[in-house]
Amino acid sequence: SAFMQLYNVAKQAASRAYVPYSRFPVGAALKLKDGSLISGCNVENASYGLCNCAERTAIFSAIAQGKQATEFDSLLIYMPGETLYSPCGACRQVIVEFFAPDAEIIATCDSESSQSWRVDELLPGAFSMP
Ligand code: THU
Repeated sequence: SAFMQLYNVAKQAASRAYVPYSRFPVGAALKLKDGSLISGCNVENASYGLCNCAERTAIFSAIAQGKQATEFDSLLIYMPGETLYSPCGACRQVIVEFFAPDAEIIATCDSESSQSWRVDELLPGAFSMP
């Protein structure tokens, strides 16, 4: 299924996470409107505030590879364990920048359950430059 393809790409990306501090590998799979996928993982830093989340890695990588924001369709996050987590605030602002308000953001983990939100549910009344 399309869901399982996204899930597997995000889970594989998590295996590449650079997480010596948290030991908490996160993977993300960004789906473009043409069906292609860009993956990302979290990349931590000894200067903790510079840690980069999996979602932002995937989004920044897509832009760096020449994908246009208008092509972004949805984003699936994978985190290990049985708990579903939602994106952090920094990721939500970056998601708002590049995804439509009704785009789907999906959280998954090692259990069967998943949760999804619209972008405008994750960050209502988001800031944008006037
Ligand atoms: N982290 C993500 O990569 N995605 C999220 O949605 C939440 C948290 C990572 C996990 C750990 O690396 C932490 O953020 C470091 O800031």
